[in-house]
Amino acid sequence: MTADAITPIRTYPDTTWADDGPTRGVEAVLEDGAVLSFPQLPFVLSEAERRFLDPRWADGKAKNISLRWPGGEMRGAAGGAADLAALKAMIERYADQSEALALRLFPHYRGRLKRGNTSFRPVDVAGRETSWRKDDTRLHIDAFPSNPMHGTRLLRVFCNVNPAGRPREWRVGEPFEAHAKRYLGAIPRPVPGSAWLLEMTGITKRRRTEYDHLMLQLHDRAKADAAFQQGSPQTRVDFAPGTTWVVFSDQVLHAAMGGQHMMEQTYYLDVADQLRPEASPRGTLERLLGRELR
Ligand SMILES: [Fe+2]
Repeated sequence: MTADAITPIRTYPDTTWADDGPTRGVEAVLEDGAVLSFPQLPFVLSEAERRFLDPRWADGKAKNISLRWPGGEMRGAAGGAADLAALKAMIERYADQSEALALRLFPHYRGRLKRGNTSFRPVDVAGRETSWRKDDTRLHIDAFPSNPMHGTRLLRVFCNVNPAGRPREWRVGEPFEAHAKRYLGAIPRPVPGSAWLLEMTGITKRRRTEYDHLMLQLHDRAKADAAFQQGSPQTRVDFAPGTTWVVFSDQVLHAAMGGQHMMEQTYYLDVADQLRPEASPRGTLERLLGRELR
């Protein structure tokens, strides 16, 4: 891999979410850190559902309208009961279709993928962020201060449902290993007792491990580093409406620069359930550090 390598975008011709689509068994492509793009795989809204492509259905507190599983409760939406039921049915259909796709693309993960939130994002990307740390127009890997993952992977299936032809504008950056090497030497070990304190005070939902500490540091250092944001190896990628794309968002350096109206499904996958666990961020960090992370 050259020093200037960039996250690859792999394009596939599928036109159906169902089991009879042509692409299957591409776990290794995903695990190597590519973006899997399906430019002819739209999430189709009915005529009646098109009214939901409007930020007025968001309650103003959350930036997304989401379903939480296993119960499927809807959060972040505002409206009358009949409208909300129809909106929920639309998002639920996305959950089902994206799951069928994921299980076909990644048969090795069958029975191992855990369904996370399904979200509908009717709010424009532009101008929604309040702090540098939450600013997703800066290149980053996904890592969350309050939600330690303990190495569990974040697999995401996105689809641009913009009705006006607007693309979802992303930047993607350098591969994970190059990114980790850029900052790893400068990251101090966690302060002894800090993980316990964060957990006891409720700042984290569970114990922040050294792995979580490193991932959060990578997230924060990248977003805070203006020279990195401007000068690092990167490329712009526009996902046109009707495009579905799939990534490990804890591995792929990404930034959302623009767009409005998107569907997103999150899955969780244990590192041990990957085809090649050593290709994961945890495996990569352990190899670079020369020791096991807990
Ligand atoms: Fe992100």
